[in-house]
Amino acid sequence: MPPPVAEPLGGHPGWPARPGPLRVAAGEVGLRPVRLTDAGAWSSIRLRDEAYLTPWEPTPYGGWARRNASVEWPGRWYLLRTAARRGTTLPFAITVDGRFAGHVMIGNIVREPLLSAYVGYWCDSRLAGQGVTTAAVALVVDHCFGAARLHRIEATVRPENVASLRVLAKLGFRHEGVLRRYLDVDGDWRDHHSFAITAEETPAGGLVGRLVRERRASWV
Ligand SMILES: CC(C)(COP(=O)(O)OP(=O)(O)OC[C@H]1O[C@@H](n2cnc3c(N)ncnc32)[C@H](O)[C@@H]1OP(=O)(O)O)[C@@H](O)C(=O)NCCC(=O)NCCS
Repeated sequence: MPPPVAEPLGGHPGWPARPGPLRVAAGEVGLRPVRLTDAGAWSSIRLRDEAYLTPWEPTPYGGWARRNASVEWPGRWYLLRTAARRGTTLPFAITVDGRFAGHVMIGNIVREPLLSAYVGYWCDSRLAGQGVTTAAVALVVDHCFGAARLHRIEATVRPENVASLRVLAKLGFRHEGVLRRYLDVDGDWRDHHSFAITAEETPAGGLVGRLVRERRASWV
């Protein structure tokens, strides 16, 4: 992994990119930049998965159906694309066997001297428990500590979100504390556990290398 180095102001290394693929139980997991044409798949999964997603996502003021209608996507996509070009986010779609399956997003990128960001993710409930998100987060963290030249990735999770806590545990994120009334989720300000991982804490071969050694994923 390259050490943090001085870089030109306004640089946004690591974008666009297509990390992966990796094979897990569900199929081949890959990452690619979000697309305008994701609207239909994004909306249909999220409308079907309302009950699965709402306990963990920022409160959708205006209503879930309206905020996740396919006509909402172009505006969101434009903001994400603009932020990615500016270098403040890396908005990836997760694909499984080439089909849209969720998002893994690096946000709030702060470059020198912090070289820090957070990761957020969600995945189609029909693919749950088959290693898709663990593979996607491993791919994106390795990408952040490699091509994107970041040093620290943070993640915040509600204490009740056992699936998300398990994803971070499998990947070696370190618990740092509890953030009281941190985020407005499901209609109220909710406590979140705060986790982080730094470049020095990743094993040889990165998080993907360790997943492969542990037989949780394989190279394609
Ligand atoms: C959290 C989420 C992204 C995980 O996605 P996923 O693709 O199912 O994750 P993985 O299959 O890689 O890993 C999930 C792990 O949690 C475990 N898990 C899932 N539900 C569980 C439960 N109720 N109790 C205990 N373990 C559970 C799975 O068994 C798996 O662990 P294992 O590999 O040791 O068996 C997905 O559940 C999701 O989209 N949830 C809604 C949105 C969300 O919570 N986003 C994150 C906000 S911080």
